[in-house]
Amino acid sequence: MDMIELRSDTFTCPSPAMRKVMADAEVGDDVYGEDPTVRALESKAAELIGKESALFLPSGTMANLVAFLAQTRPSDTVILSESAHPFHYENANLAMIGGLLVRTIPDPLGKFSAEQVQEQIVSEDDPHLSKTTMVSVENTTNRGGGACWDYHELEAVFRVCQESSMRLHCDGARIFHACIETNIQARYYGRCCDTLSFCLSKGLGAPAGSLLTGSTEVIKKALRFRKMLGGGMRQAGVLAAAGLYALEHHLSDLAEDHRRARECRRALENEGVVFALPSPTNILYIQTANAALKVKQLEEAGVRALAYRDDRIRVVFHRDISDALLSRAIEVFKKILVPA
Ligand SMILES: Cc1ncc(COP(=O)(O)O)c(C=O)c1O
Repeated sequence: MDMIELRSDTFTCPSPAMRKVMADAEVGDDVYGEDPTVRALESKAAELIGKESALFLPSGTMANLVAFLAQTRPSDTVILSESAHPFHYENANLAMIGGLLVRTIPDPLGKFSAEQVQEQIVSEDDPHLSKTTMVSVENTTNRGGGACWDYHELEAVFRVCQESSMRLHCDGARIFHACIETNIQARYYGRCCDTLSFCLSKGLGAPAGSLLTGSTEVIKKALRFRKMLGGGMRQAGVLAAAGLYALEHHLSDLAEDHRRARECRRALENEGVVFALPSPTNILYIQTANAALKVKQLEEAGVRALAYRDDRIRVVFHRDISDALLSRAIEVFKKILVPA
C-alpha cells in the first residue's frame, strides 16, 4: 500500500498535465533575461501581487534572503517573529550572509502587533546601536499552525514601518492559503508590504521555484543578489511553465486542502486527540507525548507525519491527498494517537 505523505506540502508532485506544459515550454537563457516563459511567470506574479516587478528564484529561502539583502545593509537590525522561517530554518543566513542582527517577537501563532514592532525599534541616532531597518512577517505562518494575517493587522504594521523608514517583507510562502481563508485578494496583501515572496513548490504543486515581488528598484537589486548567490538559472522556463500552470489551475484547489485538514481535525478531536494550535488552513499540530515514537508507529501503519519537538506532530494537507487518502489517514491516526 502506498505511503500517505503528510509531512509537508512540499511533497506534492507535478501532475501529468503540468509535466506536459513543462516539456512544451518555450525557453531561453534566463541569466541573459531571454527566457520568455520566465518573463511571463514574473509578469503574472507581479500582476497577482499588485507590484511593479517580480523575480523568479529557485527557492523560498533564496527569495527571503535576497529580499533582506536588497533592503538592508550589513550591521542593520531586522525584526521577525520568533517562529519565522528565516529565523529557524534558513541556517542563520541572515547573520552569515546578510550580516544582520535579528530581534524576535514571541507569539505562538507567529504573528505580532504594530505596538510590538514599535517596542523593538532602535531609532536613537547613537553610534552604540544597530539601526532597525526592516521587518518581516510570515503569511501563513508555518510554525504558527498556518495562521493568517488580518488585513488591518498587517496595514498597521506597515504603517509603523513607513513611519520609521523601515522596509516590510512578507514571506508569503503560502500566501494563497491565506487569501482563501481570509477572503483577501493577494494584491491587497501586496499593498501592505514593500516586498512579498511566494512559493510555487508547496501547496501549488510545482516542483521548484519562488517569486519575489516588489518595486522595479528593489527587484533590480534582488537580481544582482540572486546572481551573487548562484541562483541564476539558464533554461528555467521549464520550471516557470509549471509555475504558470499552477497559478492558472491550482489556486482554488487550496480550499479543498483546508477542508480536508478541518475534517481530519474534527474526526480526531471527536476521539479526544488534542491539537496544539488553531489550524485555519492546511497545517495541523497534534499534541502528544513521545512524538518521535508515534511518528515511527504512524509510518509503520502507512502515514508519514513530522515529529516536531517532543510533544507535537505536524501534519500538512496538500493536493496529492484525496478524500480516500484522508479517510485512510484518519483511521491510522485514530489507531495510533487516540488515548486508551
Ligand atoms: C513560511 C516558509 N517560508 C519559506 C520557506 C522556504 O522555502 P524553500 O523550502 O523553497 O526554501 C518555507 C518552506 O517550508 C516556509 O514554510
